[in-house]
Amino acid sequence: MKNIIVTLAVGAALATAAIAHEDVKNPTVKARMELMGKVKDATGVLGGMAKGEMAFDEAKATAAKAALVEHAAAIPAAFKANETDPKSTAKAEIWLNWADFTEKAAALGTAAEAMDTSAQEQLGAGMGGVGGSCAGCHKVYRIKK
Ligand code: HEC
Repeated sequence: MKNIIVTLAVGAALATAAIAHEDVKNPTVKARMELMGKVKDATGVLGGMAKGEMAFDEAKATAAKAALVEHAAAIPAAFKANETDPKSTAKAEIWLNWADFTEKAAALGTAAEAMDTSAQEQLGAGMGGVGGSCAGCHKVYRIKK
C-alpha cells in the first residue's frame, strides 16, 4: 500500500514537471529548458543536503555532482542554435557573446567539479561556487520574469 502511494506521488511530481514545458512549441527551446530543469534538480539535491533539509547520502551527493558536471558540459550544445519561443527567458545576448556564454557554462562545470561530496559539512562551501555560477549566467543572459 505504502509503495502505491509513493508511486502515485512520484508520478504526480513528474506529471507536473512535464506540464511546465507543454506549451513550449519550439523543440530546441524545450530541450534546453529541460536541460536547465535537470541542472536545477541536481543542484536541489546538493543544496538540500547542504542545508540539512535532506539526509546526507554520499552516493547520492556524488551522483548529483556528476550529473551537474555532465549537464554543465551539455549547455553549449543545447544553446548553440539561436532559437526562440514565446516561453523562453533566454536573452539574444547569448548569441552575440557566445564565447562568454560558454565560459559561464564552463564555470558551472568547474564549480561542480570542485565540490567535496565526502561529508555534509563540505557541501555548503561548494554550493556557494555553484550558486554563484548560476547567478552569474542568469543575471546576464536570462530575462527576469
Ligand atoms: C551558461 C549560462 C547558464 C548557467 C551557468 C546556468 N543557467 Fe539556468 N538558464 C540559462 C538560460 C539562458 C536560461 C533560459 C532558457 C530559455 O528559457 O530558453 C536558463 C533557465 C533556467 C531555468 C528555467 C528553465 C525553464 O524551464 O524555464 C532554471 C530552473 C535554471 N536555469 C536553473 C539553473 C541553475 C540551478 C543553475 C546553476 C546550478 C543554472 N541554471 C546555471 C543559462 C544558464
